[in-house]
Amino acid sequence: MSPPATPPLPLVVLISGEGSNLQAIIDAIATGALPACILAVISNRAEAAGLSRARRANIPTHVLDASGYTNREQYDQAVMRLIDQYHPRLVVLAGFMRILSDELVYHYHGRLINIHPSLLPKYKGLNTHQRVLDAGDTEHGATVHFVEPELDSGPIILQGKIPVMPDDTAATLQQRVHDVEHRLYPEAIRLIATGRVQLRNHTVYLDGNPLENT
Ligand code: GRF
Repeated sequence: MSPPATPPLPLVVLISGEGSNLQAIIDAIATGALPACILAVISNRAEAAGLSRARRANIPTHVLDASGYTNREQYDQAVMRLIDQYHPRLVVLAGFMRILSDELVYHYHGRLINIHPSLLPKYKGLNTHQRVLDAGDTEHGATVHFVEPELDSGPIILQGKIPVMPDDTAATLQQRVHDVEHRLYPEAIRLIATGRVQLRNHTVYLDGNPLENT
């Protein structure tokens, strides 16, 4: 007899742009590789290409434009109200280009994850690929982590590495890091969905063992 199937982990995904990571998650669910379901996709930008990707997959979409709110806290409270209507077990930041209020981060503590295009803790923030080249690093990559209040911080779930080649540019690095991200993010969500990854006291446990990089 085959083992019982893992029930799908309900997700809400937040985006701002292209949504290629959202697409990777949609595809991994469609192939059966990822036991999850996307309840809704929320974008802060109406023109985000990722919204079309969600619509093509018959996922409900919402646009929440920050211009209608007087400050970050008010906007984030509206985002939380919207997310909470869906009762997700995991909130997935997939290129959501906004700094989050502490209130939002604490509200979803332990069930809010992000993907960042660098080997954290190196290169938090923007322009990571150019900064890797400027520093002369020989390796680069992407990180999936639980979110904590400080920007691009929090216990690391998974990292994927690539070598930096002598002829690399920021554009070639971005392309190869994206390829890594598209494998890494569905895999990290799968580890959470199957209960293999857990966050306890700010430490990530994989199969019951604390990960050293957290
Ligand atoms: C990715 O590089 C991700 O690491 C960063 O934003 C980018 C989003 O790309 N947080 P996409 O919208 O998923 O194509």
